Amino acid sequence: MNNTSDQPAVQIDCLYSAAQIQQRVQALAVQIDVDYSQSTGELVLVGLLNGAVMFLADLSRSLQTPHRLDFMQVSSYGDQQASSGQLRVLKDLDGNICGKHVLIVEDIIDTGHTLQQTLARLAKRQPASLHVCTLLDKPSRRRVAVGVDYVGFQIEDVFVIGYGMDDAQQYRHLPYIGVKH
Ligand code: IMP
Ligand code: MG
Repeated sequence: MNNTSDQPAVQIDCLYSAAQIQQRVQALAVQIDVDYSQSTGELVLVGLLNGAVMFLADLSRSLQTPHRLDFMQVSSYGDQQASSGQLRVLKDLDGNICGKHVLIVEDIIDTGHTLQQTLARLAKRQPASLHVCTLLDKPSRRRVAVGVDYVGFQIEDVFVIGYGMDDAQQYRHLPYIGVKH
């Protein structure tokens, strides 16, 4: 390994510890199990890559409700190009969701553009139901209204990393959620 002492020191403050995250994920899973206990038909958890991968893995293993896993990788053009309403789909679902109960699993909702466009796309495939579970929500940053059914933590307008979330593809591996300074 090269000596990295010439790199500027990065300070990361812990916002939610690994233990706090696990506790919240367990509570979300209990709530989801209750809500889907009366549903007939298959439940599909749709993880939005890459950020939701840690959350999806932990949530899936905490659920009692049998379910399938599927993945999408999307990116929204964001504020500047929002008028185009374009969602870039880098990877679409493998399976058919028609008639199935779909729960989108997201790492964080910021402006809401990505989720709004993903929901619109999946709704056209006529799932039996379509709901959203996000680990983090930054409501103060919202630009478009989106219905979110399950929220792990509401946070202030800070940029977070860890537990799947990145800053230029770094820090996804951290077991906790931090704020980089
Ligand atoms: P939105 O379309 O503005 O809601 O952005 C949603 C996506 O932007 C999330 O799924 C994340 O991948 C990314 N994102 C937004 N805020 C953060 C953050 O604080 N840290 C890391 N990624 C973020
Ligand atoms: Mg995401």
